[in-house]
Amino acid sequence: MEPPQDSQPEDPFAAIAPHYDALMANVPYGIWVDYVSELCARAGRPVRPGSRVLDLATGTGSVALEFAVRGCSVVGLDFSGPMLEQARRKARARRLSAEFVQADLAQFSLPPEFDHAVCLYDSLNYLLTLAALKRAFANIRKALQPDGVLVFDVNTVRALEAELFTQSSAPGAPVEYRWVSKYHPKTRMSVIRMRFKVRATGERISAVHRQRAYTDEEIREALHETGFTAVTSYDSYRFEPP
Ligand SMILES: C[S@@+](CC[C@H](N)C(=O)[O-])C[C@H]1O[C@@H](n2cnc3c(N)ncnc32)[C@H](O)[C@@H]1O
Repeated sequence: MEPPQDSQPEDPFAAIAPHYDALMANVPYGIWVDYVSELCARAGRPVRPGSRVLDLATGTGSVALEFAVRGCSVVGLDFSGPMLEQARRKARARRLSAEFVQADLAQFSLPPEFDHAVCLYDSLNYLLTLAALKRAFANIRKALQPDGVLVFDVNTVRALEAELFTQSSAPGAPVEYRWVSKYHPKTRMSVIRMRFKVRATGERISAVHRQRAYTDEEIREALHETGFTAVTSYDSYRFEPP
């Protein structure tokens, strides 16, 4: 297996971007944003109309636009041009205001004005080295106000070990898919070969995604090193530790 690079060798979302929202049609983004908002409130920084929210790895902007609906002032950041194109199109269609910026999590710089930063749907696992993860946390810390809050999720070592990405779509899905994942315990990397078929057009798409698993200790240490204090982890959708 090739030595780990910081990030994906090519944009694994480029070809699927126009179909990403169809693929995610059942993802409860509104419930996610309600849950994140509750976590922010518990951290003493409630999300309010006018709050400045940075949605990292925004993709097609679904999370960003949920915050925009709640009256927040939102910036969505992602390195995939095709995903951002969908995000901007969606914002225009829904007449919602959000700014979308193309940048790498491990390399961006924004002024320290955000109340909240979020990075959802295992996007941090796409950073393939601990050094890149630390750079991303450092960049996020700098973009937040001193008492700003970061909420993110990750796929755990256990989840990637269990090959959670080896899965197929339900029969009759508008975008059918078959994914096969191979976890490499030494590097804690999953290489996921994804194949899609868009039913309406018959278009076939394939992509290789790479995700790296980080231990709880690595993540906590990276957060502390980059200036985050009061780190708490939660089981998904719950208010208790995993
Ligand atoms: C699984 S998608 C999640 C998108 C969105 N957060 C959502 O919930 O639908 C992962 C996103 O992370 C972005 N991404 C991966 N690595 C990145 C990096 N190093 N810098 C910026 N964006 C990145 C991809 O382009 C993709 O849009």
